Amino acid sequence: MSELLITEYFLSSDISSFLEWTKKVIYLYDYDIVIADKSGIRIYNLIEGEVSRPVDTVEWDAEQIKKGGFEHYMLKEILEQSETIQRAIQQDESVVNRIVDEIRRAYGIFFVGCGSSYHACLTGSYLFSKIAKTHVNVVLASEFENYEHFLTDRTLVFAVSQSGETADVLEAVRAAKRHGSKVIGIVNRMGSSLTRESDEFLLMNAGPEICVLSTKTYTSQVALMTMLAYALAGKYEEGIKKLKGLYMDIYNLTSRSMREHLKKLAEMLVDKEHIYLIGRGLQYATALEAALKIKEVSYIHAEAFAGGELKHGPLALIEDGTPVIVFVAKDNEKKILSNANEVKARGGFVIGVSAERHEIFDYWIKVPECGDLNPIVQIIPMQILAYKLAVLKGLDPDKPRNLAKSVTVI
Ligand code: AGP
Repeated sequence: MSELLITEYFLSSDISSFLEWTKKVIYLYDYDIVIADKSGIRIYNLIEGEVSRPVDTVEWDAEQIKKGGFEHYMLKEILEQSETIQRAIQQDESVVNRIVDEIRRAYGIFFVGCGSSYHACLTGSYLFSKIAKTHVNVVLASEFENYEHFLTDRTLVFAVSQSGETADVLEAVRAAKRHGSKVIGIVNRMGSSLTRESDEFLLMNAGPEICVLSTKTYTSQVALMTMLAYALAGKYEEGIKKLKGLYMDIYNLTSRSMREHLKKLAEMLVDKEHIYLIGRGLQYATALEAALKIKEVSYIHAEAFAGGELKHGPLALIEDGTPVIVFVAKDNEKKILSNANEVKARGGFVIGVSAERHEIFDYWIKVPECGDLNPIVQIIPMQILAYKLAVLKGLDPDKPRNLAKSVTVI
């Protein structure tokens, strides 16, 4: 095999910074240090001494890193979702079957993540319950240490992280490994710590996500959770068929007319101090994710509640004109519309995310009714709304204040 003639090296914490010059990459492990000089590079591990690490090839190309004519990466990445969801479900079926077998063998299952990845875990727990009648424990990665004493060698932990470098998630993974538990990673970055430390992993195939906000990687995670729930229920083909059927729905949800419709809503909300969001079941997880999108990119206080929780306190927050976004799905329409009525009776401004217009809506965002796949379709208008709010406020949606794309500190 011809010697790989290397004339220059790039040292970086992110492959997107040198992808223009090379797709050859050596991923360093914890405690690795590199000595690079004109004779080449040598890698030492502070525990193992001199080591050699494999040279990988990055599947992404420089073009994917560029904005492609869009003003912001956030909009570009939102509009990629009709494609990225299709790529997420292109998995090696033998790996999916191995994971399903692991789930069936497990005694205790945890879904662990942070931020949007945690919301994907929560969505996954509803899907596993609804479709596969399987109970899973959903835990914020930063809270996982409080459950460590439950871990055994029969526990199965799903660690969900697009970057694969989130310190809280890696802490949880190491705790699981200490107890002999199996770890399945759901991750977007090949060569990340999570891919190395998982027993098995599913790649999200979403391509590089440059914007600090998770948009396409969130829906890819939810698509994978949906696929696993159907596979676990013995309905893998049915699940894949439904997910493939989303292509045009998502394409339409990111259309220019939808973006204009959401810009009008953003103009009505841009000066609001608070925006509340409510949903039930799968839509509660969607409401949490939508609230995170709005708050982290527009700095408007946005807070989500389970619809049934309103009268246990949050209703006190509603006054004349308070905007409340209500996520409606066929299977719990009656109850959530009754919650919307509670808001309306206190003067709230009700924004409906729903397949049908309802009398109670002051503003309607039309989405298709997709049953178990509603979490994917209903979040997309919210991603666009959050984006429009940030742009209207003259903020940079790609780099919100105080936030990093990958939180590598505890
Ligand atoms: C989401 O928009 C945020 N960027 C943040 O909450 C993120 O989801 C969280 O930090 C987890 O990141 P990860 O998926 O890379 O682990």
